[in-house]
Amino acid sequence: MGEIRRIGICTGGGDCPGLNAVIRAAVKTAVLKYRWEVIGIRDGFDGLIWPEKARPLQLCDVSGLLPRGGTILGTTNRGNPFAYKRNNDGAETVRDFSDDLIRNARAMGMDCLIVIGGDGTQKIGWDLFQKGLKVVGVPKTIDNDLSATECTFGFDTAVATATDAHDKIHTTAESHHRVMIIELMGRDAGWLTLHAGIAGGAHIILIPEIPFSLERVCEYIQQRNVLGKRFTVMSVAEGVHLPEDLMRYYQEKYGASPQISGKGNIIADFIAGRCHKEVRVTVLGHIQRGGSPTAFDRVLSTRFGSAAVDLIAQGGFGKMVALRQQSVVYVDICEAIGRQKMVDPQGELVKTAKNIGIHFGEP
Ligand code: F6P
Repeated sequence: MGEIRRIGICTGGGDCPGLNAVIRAAVKTAVLKYRWEVIGIRDGFDGLIWPEKARPLQLCDVSGLLPRGGTILGTTNRGNPFAYKRNNDGAETVRDFSDDLIRNARAMGMDCLIVIGGDGTQKIGWDLFQKGLKVVGVPKTIDNDLSATECTFGFDTAVATATDAHDKIHTTAESHHRVMIIELMGRDAGWLTLHAGIAGGAHIILIPEIPFSLERVCEYIQQRNVLGKRFTVMSVAEGVHLPEDLMRYYQEKYGASPQISGKGNIIADFIAGRCHKEVRVTVLGHIQRGGSPTAFDRVLSTRFGSAAVDLIAQGGFGKMVALRQQSVVYVDICEAIGRQKMVDPQGELVKTAKNIGIHFGEP
């Protein structure tokens, strides 16, 4: 293994609380412990395709970053260097820039690249590693759906933000005797919705991993009414699978399938018609990805950022940091990608929710 003198760092995919804390920890560890130089790569991998975007990162550049949301390096979830799409006067072109990228990294004297990102970004990192670029990975996502790690930073902050939203929405639900639907992110996994729903006192939780019937949901809302509980708070994951009849109704009405986000409104329509209650929908959206990381996420980000630099020093290229049994470990990136971690419908968390009367709308 050649001596390391200079490393690069980039953030890819959606932003997430804790990215800046990872950058800070990586720069501090690289500079203070190893005396290496660090180059910040802008806008995901774009900064290696157009290297004029790159800039050195020194200790003064990471000062004050710990509590800051987003990423100072910028990011994109549209920049796969192996199939880079560009629009030239309305005509889309697709080009493989991976060779240019690797050439540019070498020309910059970059001995290894730290890739911070979710599944898609790690896959690109792995493919670049296969082509000869030294890479180590740091996993991130508010969805918490990467199977290689027990936990990703950003998730705890997103849960805290969504829980706060539940608390606030409760007051209107109760005062107006309404059904209040809160739609949460998480893509195909229900982790964020399940955690925030439990923490925020939801009465009904709908997640992609548990099939539901809206008839059963309506029955439950009506039962609550009979018991004098005239309001209902529902946490709905953006990735829920709508029952077939509702899907058909939607496709006929709008001539298209629903987007990943927006299903809360379709569910609201149905409940309003069936239960004759006022229903309101709040789509939390990117609020869940924003803001300052929680103490837990700051610590996890710091551990991951620092461990990634130690990993480079040990020559662990092609590997990614991960959390297992509360310890930071190293796993092969190829082992970590493409395997999603989903909520277990028979698991302890769902059982706990059911024990305290939370309804999952199961048929
Ligand atoms: O993967 C993170 C995530 O926030 C998902 O929960 C959500 O579905 C998606 O990204 C939104 O992506 P975009 O910012 O591109 O709309």
